[in-house]
This record gives sequence, structure tokens and C-alpha cells, in this order.
Amino acid sequence: MGRPELAVLGLACCLAGVSAAKLGVVHTEGGFVEGVNKKLGLLGIGGRSVDVFKGIPFAAPPQALENPQRHPGWQGTLKATDFKQRCLQVTDTQEDTEGSEDCLYLNIWVPQGRKEVSQNLPVMIWIYGGGFLMGSTQELNVFNNYEFEGEEIATRGSVIVVTFNYRLGPLGFLSTGDAHLPGNYGLRDQHMAIAWVKRNIAAFGGDPNNISIVGESAGGASVSLQTLSPYSKGLIRRAISESGVALAPWAIQKDPLSWAKGIAKEVGCPLDDTARMAKCLKVTDPRALTLAYKIPLVGKEYPIVHYVGLVPVIDGDFIPDDPINLFANAADIDYIAGTNNMDGHLFASVDLPAINIDNKIVTREDFFKLVSKLTFAKGPRGANATFDLYTASWAQDSSQEAKKKTVVDLETDVFFLMPTKMAVAQHRASAKSARTYTYLFSHPTRNPFYPSWVGADHTDELPYVFGKPFATPLGYRPQDRTVSRTMIAYWTNFARTGDPNKGHSAVPTQWDPYTQENGNYLEINKKMDGQSLKQHLRSSYLQYWTQTYQALPTVTGDGAAPLPPSDDSEAVP
Ligand SMILES: *[C@@H]1O[C@H](CO)[C@@H](O)[C@H](O)[C@H]1NC(C)=O
Ligand SMILES: *[C@@H]1O[C@H](CO)[C@@H](O)[C@H](O)[C@H]1NC(C)=O
Repeated sequence: MGRPELAVLGLACCLAGVSAAKLGVVHTEGGFVEGVNKKLGLLGIGGRSVDVFKGIPFAAPPQALENPQRHPGWQGTLKATDFKQRCLQVTDTQEDTEGSEDCLYLNIWVPQGRKEVSQNLPVMIWIYGGGFLMGSTQELNVFNNYEFEGEEIATRGSVIVVTFNYRLGPLGFLSTGDAHLPGNYGLRDQHMAIAWVKRNIAAFGGDPNNISIVGESAGGASVSLQTLSPYSKGLIRRAISESGVALAPWAIQKDPLSWAKGIAKEVGCPLDDTARMAKCLKVTDPRALTLAYKIPLVGKEYPIVHYVGLVPVIDGDFIPDDPINLFANAADIDYIAGTNNMDGHLFASVDLPAINIDNKIVTREDFFKLVSKLTFAKGPRGANATFDLYTASWAQDSSQEAKKKTVVDLETDVFFLMPTKMAVAQHRASAKSARTYTYLFSHPTRNPFYPSWVGADHTDELPYVFGKPFATPLGYRPQDRTVSRTMIAYWTNFARTGDPNKGHSAVPTQWDPYTQENGNYLEINKKMDGQSLKQHLRSSYLQYWTQTYQALPTVTGDGAAPLPPSDDSEAVP
């Protein structure tokens, strides 16, 4: 490198150094923390930067199967520069564990302009998904970039982004269904993190009265549950649930004791008395507890989602009642909830792998079998009625593609779309001044192994929300950057004003609120215009599931959800 370049570099560094605003050491309730100030743009010219804090404790290291407690604090200055370990969980193969019990830490991204440090910024807190079983703030995505890195949202939308870890699997959600192990430890971790942000974010330049919580899948259901819990009173101003709500049939375990027994049996704890069972489980090696619960991938009797069993429970306290009865608690919270147009594809692919293989066929019998398992609680009448409704269109189009899409539609409806439509309707009915919006994300999957008819699969919107087409541009096309810009604009405008159309970022088209009468929803994809605001998505199916199907007599289980009752001998091998 020649001398002129060196001189330019030197100048850039010093100009940026003089003019850039940064936080430096921040005082929190636990003590001082110091993050890293990262310059943005070419050589930091322009003076924009982001302050990044990683690994701040928001609770003390937790005791197994106990509620989280406040952190006692620390001396000196905590260097908040690296992600802490993920919460203890099974690895992808489910044969080993990774992570740590000591995992209750959060991360913060604060965008800074040139002159003064930011003040009163809206705050977006992210809750990751993973079936309440897996996940962390530090998942790597395919381009070796952290999936939930907050930098793009923070700097493009001028908001503070916070991510945090919460306990998972048995350590997060095991419950005996009584006071001995009430459960919901992972939900209480989430609450601790949100409450920490409320108490401390002003010191980072955030507005504690402008907190939004946002999550996907189990994280979306968590967002929904946090808004419904009486513990959140006054904490949360707005919320976004992506592909998961509290009313999803997989979000609440109605029979936690049978799952607790399966785990107790596996680790050799007493089964007959919940006091003795709880005492024994609390002193069992946490790694053994974590490994005692596995999702069977072969030889399973029910659809895969059925085996997501260690999840939140109605504990009479944090979740005091069935979520359907708790919407009054969310009446003051602005809410967006939406789904991907093929959210069920990922799960249908496990239940009926032929849908992804061009030279394999799906027969009426295959589909009937799947329907029967999904409608187990209503017996043969439920299966027949559901089968007839979903196969009606096959009379006009009996192609394999049509049939395979029907399989995906069924799982999308049951696990994601219908519960989301119900949650949005409930929120709208309870909300007074608060707003309600809903969306359908339909930018097709980029997975090269899927057939060309596959739309937006479960989790497919995440890279766009987190700005990956900008962070790792080589992996994406210009149209992907359009989708990402659009999502970040709506999401961060909403966090700022409660209206996704109004804020710092221009949006491609007006997104009007939902009411039961207008049935408005926004279809989000690469080509958006006045036609993107649509009405009454699959309303006849909603009517079927909430009225016709519900009215059928239940033959087994409580019939509250279109899922078979849990069967611990099957689910916990
Ligand atoms: C939230 O932020 C916006 C924009 O900065 C501001 O107008 C509003 O007063 C803030 N507070 C609340 C409670 O909405
Ligand atoms: C379900 O449909 C099958 C085939 O049409 C029929 O034989 C059976 O009687 C029906 N069962 C019920 C309970 O409606």
C-alpha cells in the first residue's frame, strides 16, 4: 500500500474518532458494562456506528427447575464483548448436549449517529424459536454470520435491538402440573429479560415506554404468552408474533404430568408421588434430564408436531388460565401476528416425505391417514369431515402437485394459520385503543432441495427480518434485499409508532389494521402495491375449524386442540 492511501486511512480514522458518538461504559443495576463500538460504512466515514454489548447477565445463574432470580451484581466493569453459552440443550443429533445451565444473558445493539449518543430510541426484544427445545441468540446461519445479529435492524430502523437466551426442554418446561414443579421456567426467564430491559435500557439510550417484543415460532408463541400474562402489566407496549401464537395447539401442554413421568422414568426418579418425583428431578444431572426428552424422527405414530411436548403450561400464576381467556391482559398492546404461506411444509415433510420427491406420489389413503392423526380427538367423523373439505378441490385438479400442496395447507392451517387468525380476532375484540395487524409472508423458499411449488416455509422470513441480504449480500439477489428492506421498515416503524406505515422508513404500500369485518391482511413479498392488502384469508376454513369441527363430539382427550392427547410411552422413548 502506497503512502497516499495510508494518509487517507489515517484521516478517516481520526475524523471518525473525533466525531462519532459512542456509549463507552454504561451503568446498569448490576454494575458497569462496556461493549464495543463498531464503525459503519467505508472506513467509518460518516461517523455512524453501533454500540454492541454481548453477554450481560439479566438474572443469576439459575437453579435447575426453579424460577430465575435477580443477579446479585458485580464489582468493576464487565467486558460485554462475547456471546455467553447457549442454554443447555440437545444437539441436532439429540445424542449429546451443548450449552450451559449458566445461560441467562442478553445482548444489545444501539445505533449511533455522528454527534450525540442516541436517546429515547424504541426497543425491540427478540425471542427465538426452536420448539421450546432448541435455539439461542447465537445461531450461525449458512453464511457463517449470526442469524440473530441485531445490527441491520438497529441501524436501518434506528431502534435498539435486544436478544437473550432462555431455558429450554426439560430444564425450561418440565412440570408435574402441580405446585411441586409448576413449570414455565423458560417463560419466566423471558419475563426476567424483558423486565431487565424495562429497568435498564434508558442507560443505553432506549425508551423504556416503547418496548416491543418480537419472536418466531415458539418465540412467536412466547411473545403471545408474555402479552397475555398478568406479570407483563405495564412492561410491553407492542408485540409481533411470527408463525406462532399462544392459541397454537402445540403452545400449551394440557397434560404435563404424563410427560414428566416419561422423563422421571428415563432418569430413574419415582413416578407415584409428585413431591418425591420433583425432589429427585431437581437433583438429577441436568445433562441427563436434557437427554431424557427426544423428538422421535422415525417410527413415530403421530405427526411430528405432536411430540413438541415440553412447552408452557397453565400454572395458575404466570399463565393463570387458558390463553383464550387472557386476552384482556393484552388490551393495551399493539399487536402484529402473521404466518408464512407454507409454514406447515417443514413439518409435513417429516410426516409425509413423498411431498418433496417428484417421482413419489401421495394417495388419497396417505392423506386420509394424516388427517385421521391430526383429528384424533374427534374420531372418524372428524377425519371424514376434514378429509372431505380439504380434498374437495381435487375433483377439479387431481395432479400430484395439487395433492402435495393440500398436505401442506392442512398442516399450515392446523398448526399456524388458524390459531393465528383466532389470536388476531381475539386481540382485536379485546383491544380498546391498541391496534391489530396481520400479514401473510409469501416470498418463496430458497431451499434448493424443495420442489418449485414450495412457497414460504417455516422460518423462511427470518433472514429478511434480520437483514441478511444486506449483511451477507453474496448469498442473495436484489429482490431479496427488497423484501428485507420492506420487512425491516414495517417492523421498526411499528416498534416506533404502533403503525407499521409511520416512522423513519418508507414502506411500499399502506398496511391497514385488521378488524373482524374487513378481514384485512398484508401479503408480503417482492412485489408489493395497492393489491397487497387483501381480505379474509381462508375464512371458510377458519369457520370449519372453529365451528363445524369444534361442534363434533370429542371421542378422546379434551378436544380443545386438533391434536391427539399426549401418550408418554410413545413420545418419550
Ligand atoms: C415512543 O416513541 C415515539 C417516537 O420516538 C414517541 O413519539 C412516543 O412518545 C414514545 N413513547 C410512547 C409511550 O409511545
Ligand atoms: C367415514 O367415511 C367412510 C367412507 O366414506 C364411511 O364408510 C364411514 O362410515 C364414515 N364414518 C363416519 C363416522 O362418518
